[in-house]
Amino acid sequence: MYAKAAMHVPLEIAEEARRTARGLGADCCVTVGGSSTTGLGKAIALTSDLPILTMPTNYAGSEMTPIYGLTEAGAKKTGRDARVLPKTVIYDPTLTVSLPPRLAAASGMNAIAHCVEALYAHDGNPVTSLMAEEGIRALAGISLGAAGMALHHKLCHVLGGTFDLPHAARYNRDAAPEAMARVARALGTSDAPTGLYDLEAKLGIAPALRDIGMPEEGIERAARIATENSYPNPRAVHYDDVLQLLRAAYEGRRPEP
Ligand SMILES: NC(=O)c1ccc[n+]([C@@H]2O[C@H](COP(=O)([O-])OP(=O)(O)OC[C@H]3O[C@@H](n4cnc5c(N)ncnc54)[C@H](O)[C@@H]3O)[C@@H](O)[C@H]2O)c1
Repeated sequence: MYAKAAMHVPLEIAEEARRTARGLGADCCVTVGGSSTTGLGKAIALTSDLPILTMPTNYAGSEMTPIYGLTEAGAKKTGRDARVLPKTVIYDPTLTVSLPPRLAAASGMNAIAHCVEALYAHDGNPVTSLMAEEGIRALAGISLGAAGMALHHKLCHVLGGTFDLPHAARYNRDAAPEAMARVARALGTSDAPTGLYDLEAKLGIAPALRDIGMPEEGIERAARIATENSYPNPRAVHYDDVLQLLRAAYEGRRPEP
């Protein structure tokens, strides 16, 4: 057993866990926890080929994707590899009941974020869109594995949070009208970005990046990192625009309808 899983899979932790697995002569990797724990299992599978059996305890959804992440010297790198996709997933809803309400709400919003980005993904298709729209209603993570992710997830990898979702949706709103209409329909509102913002407020989630420890002087650096490589996103990703987005998210401003 190895119980030191940490957010964003720091490389040192991954290497220690890999050594532990080797020392135990493990023939399988069983993970029980949130996506940080699943992510650690993926780091082990990536270098050992061990099959993963995972029991998720929240809604983050990593168990359904071939995507792994590793953090080295403060920078998170992600990749796709079939070896890290769990061979077996056991969903036991009773494992989620110990989630404190705030964590449950944040994890649910994370699942919704996966669905929103799947709806405007460059490689989405009618089936992933159906799952994503339904997932927003039912909070599913499965849409994440089947379609590529865009600006919101890039910002999450830079910032380590999901709290910019309404602002990322606002950023992309006019460039992805069909996706936004589906998000709004699933939320039962007329406008997706404000609907997401209001849902977060209803759930008691702090709307501002500053409330979750983001330093103000970090905004420009985050905008720079998020725009230094290109990736598919409905609206072109430019430094000045992303800076504006992050300032709005930093202050927790309600997106303009
Ligand atoms: N590769 C992918 O496809 C993918 C998908 C989603 C998230 N991720 C990654 O996973 C990480 C975040 O995962 P997360 O959001 O699941 O958070 P997490 O796994 O870090 O869990 C957050 C906190 O909730 C606690 N927790 C989890 N389940 C609980 C339960 N049932 N009862 C009480 N406490 C519980 C954990 O101990 C932890 O303190 C990030 O690094 C993110 O990038 C990767």
